Amino acid sequence: MKNDLQKRENWTTRLGFILAAAGSAVGLGNIWRFPYVTGTNGGAAFLFIYLIAIILIGYPLMVTEMTLGRKTQRNPVGAFKALAPNTPWWLVGGLGVLTGFVILSYYSVVAGWSLAYIFKALGGFVPEMAFGEVFTDHITGVGVPIFWHAVFMALTIGVISAGVVKGIQRAVKTLMPILFILLVVLIIRSLTLDGASEGLRFYLSPDFSEITAQTFMDAIAQAFFTLSLGMGAIITYGSYLSEDANIGDNAAYVVGLDTLIAVMAGLAMFPALFALTDVSPDAGPGLTFITLPAVFAEMPLGSFFGFIFFVLLSIAALTSAISLLEVVVAWAVDEKDIERKKASIIVGIIIFIVGIPPVLGYSAWSDFSFLGFDVLDTYDWIANSIFLPLGGLLTAVFAGYVWKARNLADEANKVGGVINIGEWYGFLVKIVVPIAIAVVMVVTIAQTLM
Ligand code: PFF
Ligand code: NA
Repeated sequence: MKNDLQKRENWTTRLGFILAAAGSAVGLGNIWRFPYVTGTNGGAAFLFIYLIAIILIGYPLMVTEMTLGRKTQRNPVGAFKALAPNTPWWLVGGLGVLTGFVILSYYSVVAGWSLAYIFKALGGFVPEMAFGEVFTDHITGVGVPIFWHAVFMALTIGVISAGVVKGIQRAVKTLMPILFILLVVLIIRSLTLDGASEGLRFYLSPDFSEITAQTFMDAIAQAFFTLSLGMGAIITYGSYLSEDANIGDNAAYVVGLDTLIAVMAGLAMFPALFALTDVSPDAGPGLTFITLPAVFAEMPLGSFFGFIFFVLLSIAALTSAISLLEVVVAWAVDEKDIERKKASIIVGIIIFIVGIPPVLGYSAWSDFSFLGFDVLDTYDWIANSIFLPLGGLLTAVFAGYVWKARNLADEANKVGGVINIGEWYGFLVKIVVPIAIAVVMVVTIAQTLM
């Protein structure tokens, strides 16, 4: 196993690591996936359970993965091998590599929609446009969405193989605040529309009678996806984290920022959805791409704002995609001894090909159905409702019982910070996280199959 640390780009500053981890976390998960999953699950009640999942499951696992990475300085497979040699625990890292592979294949397809919308914005958004049809026309094409999927994968491969990841992350520092400001502008426009209150009620006033086991499953899946947890992305980035950083604080910063952006995306979306469109909140993956153009159409300089917004969304998606590809490439380089550039290109091309069926699922293969899901939703379901929670559960069990919560806490607390990883951490990672995930997974899978 080749693992010379010199070869790792080391984040010399705390900010560098934060930018990388926040870049991985903030992406399509916040602005594309969060609103439509919230919409499908009835709105406010889902938001409530999601926030609980973020605090009780997401935060402790963020701490866990960051610490595993920093301690071992390895890719996910190597990290488990280093702490538990000659045991099957490395398979958890292996599952992560597989998951990164599956997620990136369709993540790139959706990022391709975002790239395409940059140009749709330039063409202008006008209130009379039927945005639902614009979206359907786009995804039911074949060549065009595959083209944008290819462009996005090429960008991702380019960044990883050229080793310019740090440069991209640095750009995040300037771009993230702009995205934030644009979201504020969108929220203001959305909330001041006639009829905004209905959407606001849907999003913020919970009806707990709507909650089922599925609601919990979807909340956990979304928590994992949005925080890049359960597949070793944060282990990989944690391996670049310097010794003098407090992990509890870093983890809180990343989790807090990601959650803020997701909640803001919902605030921008739901009032406008009810006020401007006749689209139902449970319309699924198209929700963002139908609703936001409708808001831009109601704004002065809407075409300009829309253009900037989709550029920023595409860049946010790129910094997340980089972390997905990095997990697979770091594994190929460290464990399989493949040269970095070669690994990036080969793996990237295979992922591109695996991403073609999700595109065709809206056209040539629209007859495909698995548990009622189209191809893209099937990939999404397997990755987020099965692989990520399973990976997270096993990572928690490993940290709590094999490496031991106490040891992990000591490593995390090496440098003092605001947040101390105390007894509560052991309780969460040994009991709450595994039991909550196991119960919710078993119940929903049983219900799905029945
Ligand atoms: N967290 C990213 C998002 O919210 O868009 C998606 C993601 C990135 C998931 C990296 C998993 C991962 F390892
Ligand atoms: Na996210």
